Amino acid sequence: MITMSPLEEFSGQTALVTGGGSGIGRAIAVRYAAGGGNVVVLGRRAEPLEQTVQLAREFGVKADFVTCNVRDADAVTAAVDGVVEQFGSIDALVNNAAGNFICPAEDLSPNGWRAVVDIVLNGTFFGTRAAGRHMLAAGGGSILNVIASYAWHGHPGTVHSAAAKGGVLAMTRTLASEWAGRGVRVNAISPGPTETEGAGAALWPTDADRARVLGSVPAARFTTPEEVAESAAFLLDPRRAAYITGDVLSVDGGQWLGKAVYADSSAGARG
Ligand code: HXC
Repeated sequence: MITMSPLEEFSGQTALVTGGGSGIGRAIAVRYAAGGGNVVVLGRRAEPLEQTVQLAREFGVKADFVTCNVRDADAVTAAVDGVVEQFGSIDALVNNAAGNFICPAEDLSPNGWRAVVDIVLNGTFFGTRAAGRHMLAAGGGSILNVIASYAWHGHPGTVHSAAAKGGVLAMTRTLASEWAGRGVRVNAISPGPTETEGAGAALWPTDADRARVLGSVPAARFTTPEEVAESAAFLLDPRRAAYITGDVLSVDGGQWLGKAVYADSSAGARG
């Protein structure tokens, strides 16, 4: 029976959120703080991270940031070790940092491929390995990977990102199985089109692009970082989600299922 107030769900715990200076990463960090957890946000630039830290501290928790490029394995390990040194534990890791742009595969340079795979796939592994070691030693923890549904259904123009996120999905399931017996859960969340500056600039830069994306969502709206963060909080919660590992929670308004093709879903119920 769950008796704890929802706003104490992360009390006494600490999360590290990569890409925590903006968008979904910031919203997850702030939601974790709202749940009473301490948070550290990691990213390349100090200024946006500092803003997230201020927002988190408003909930009376301890918060800090670390500047680090997730492509640098040694720096990521040092950042994770620093969290444990400063806060005493790392109970949650959110691998949210991503890089993305739309590009036809035949035009994608090897460097463009490497940049995205390094951030998304390699960066996720570096953080997971470093945090996983502490969590396994402590006997528990939760890792949440932010992916996208094209990880399993593919999508034109996203070969680098889809391949990397597909790898992260395989990593999620592999490590969920590998670490479940030692108390470490590994899950993924798959947000649909989310109103953030980063995603908008990369994926729907023009009004026409935006309208096309919106037209692909059965729920007929974009989502917000806060809405995604609420689902992330559920999966990170060591009580409510204690038996959930290796799974993917889609928060996408039904986007990946697709819209009606054979029936006109806009026509409503038959009267
Ligand atoms: C083609 C491009 C490109 C573009 C970069 N490249 N942008 N190629 N079209 N629009 C190529 C460059 O030409 C270069 O190759 C290589 O990629 C590396 O680019 P750099 O700018 O030198 O690298 P870097 O500074 O490391 O930047 C990495 C990045 C950048 C991924 C390109 O955009 C970044 O850091 N982004 C982080 C933020 C971000 O993208 N957020 C969006 C996440 S949204 P050459 O051969 O020229 O050297 C998201 C949502 C997905 O992920 C889910 C949707 C439902």
